Amino acid sequence: MDITVIGRGNLGGGLARLWARAGHRVTQLGRGGGEAGASDVVLLAVPGTAVEAALSSVAGLEGKPVLDATNLYGGARPPAGFPSNAEYVKSVTGGPTAKAFSTNFASLFGRIAEARVRPGNLWSGDDEAGDLVERLSLDAGYEAVRLGDLSLAATQEGLAGPIFAIAQAGLGQFVYRMAAPEQL
Ligand SMILES: NC(=O)c1ccc[n+]([C@@H]2O[C@H](COP(=O)([O-])OP(=O)(O)OC[C@H]3O[C@@H](n4cnc5c(N)ncnc54)[C@H](OP(=O)(O)O)[C@@H]3O)[C@@H](O)[C@H]2O)c1
Repeated sequence: MDITVIGRGNLGGGLARLWARAGHRVTQLGRGGGEAGASDVVLLAVPGTAVEAALSSVAGLEGKPVLDATNLYGGARPPAGFPSNAEYVKSVTGGPTAKAFSTNFASLFGRIAEARVRPGNLWSGDDEAGDLVERLSLDAGYEAVRLGDLSLAATQEGLAGPIFAIAQAGLGQFVYRMAAPEQL
């Protein structure tokens, strides 16, 4: 697939490396913006408060599937009038939208291939984005676990706090797995 990654920091840069290794063609855009019209899917990996600025600097987003990995914490709010960043993204692009890759530590991407069992990757969003989330989760070494539709994106964006708390309570940066009983 042709993937455009907006935000080439820890998360965007890390997933870009994993996806490129899996055979995808990845274009990384930073603050300078650019063009996403030729891509099959877009990953949004900028600070949670920079979503409006980031989208406004990228052309060709109309109708594109977007996987939004942004988190909001420390009292940060989504753009006015929207319950979540992901729903704001959808209002701009009009394409299939998912909140995904927001609940995994980028610092562990380099070790995911060592996992005995694939770790989970929570996502919430449109049914039409499901195949893309599952494929790109697998290609990064994760198993997609659905939290719900796009109305659950705000709940997912709020998980950054509990995830940091778990890490700071003693576990350090971690992966997780959620499995059906038949996968025990
Ligand atoms: N790091 C993690 O483990 C992790 C895990 C889950 C979710 N997240 C979420 O993922 C997002 C990115 O986190 P990160 O750790 O990758 O941050 P980061 O390392 O600080 O990288 C942020 C990137 O966003 C870009 N950026 C900032 N403002 C922008 C704008 N207006 N337009 C376009 N690009 C802009 C920066 O571009 P330049 O390169 O041009 O400066 C930089 O490449 C955050 O929302 C974070 O909450 C991070």
